[in-house]
Amino acid sequence: MTPRTPIFNHDLADDIDRVLVDRHALDIRVSELAGEIARCYHKQELTIVGVLTGSLVFLADLIRRLPLRVKLSVISISSYPGRATTSRGPSITGLPPESLAGKHVLIVDDILDSGKTLLALKTQLAAHHPASLRTCVILRKQIPDFTPCTQADFAGFDVPNEFVVGYGLDYDNLYRNLPDICVLKPHCYDRQMGKT
Ligand code: IMP
Ligand code: MG
Repeated sequence: MTPRTPIFNHDLADDIDRVLVDRHALDIRVSELAGEIARCYHKQELTIVGVLTGSLVFLADLIRRLPLRVKLSVISISSYPGRATTSRGPSITGLPPESLAGKHVLIVDDILDSGKTLLALKTQLAAHHPASLRTCVILRKQIPDFTPCTQADFAGFDVPNEFVVGYGLDYDNLYRNLPDICVLKPHCYDRQMGKT
């Protein structure tokens, strides 16, 4: 039995409008994803590149369920610096020191939204000539009449087109520690804008 009652004090619980994906569903699906990934790579060594900071919780859960020889690297991707540089795409810092050439590489991120982030990462990591390059996200946003510019090879859940937090995902670097994927109450955004 998994308790659905938030373990946090009432201040944090008061910020949550509703739970979209609870911790029990996450637990089950992450194990399933690990199975899908293990079958895909058989007994090959896998190099996982986790995208900080949003993938951190998912990454920690996923790698411990992979019955494979796994090498782990993490990278950061800058937020879009502004319109003038948007067309160049997000830039990566902390590329793995070890060459990815000839390696089976799996990028792990939190969510596929427009797809721009994953596409930029795939393009930049492909330049290292890995043996294979795939992507895995825990969430995939469903946006009506919109097709993302890239797809994920492995995806946990489809979620509606709403801003979500928890299980590593943030709003203003908050809420990453929520164990469920949640939608926030409007007052959280109002507070950020100095209205409350
Ligand atoms: P994309 O480049 O539009 O696919 O956006 C991907 C990145 O934007 C993710 O790695 C997240 O960091 C962030 N992001 C997109 N949607 C959400 C959301 O609903 N909650 C929190 N972060 C999000
Ligand atoms: Mg991110």
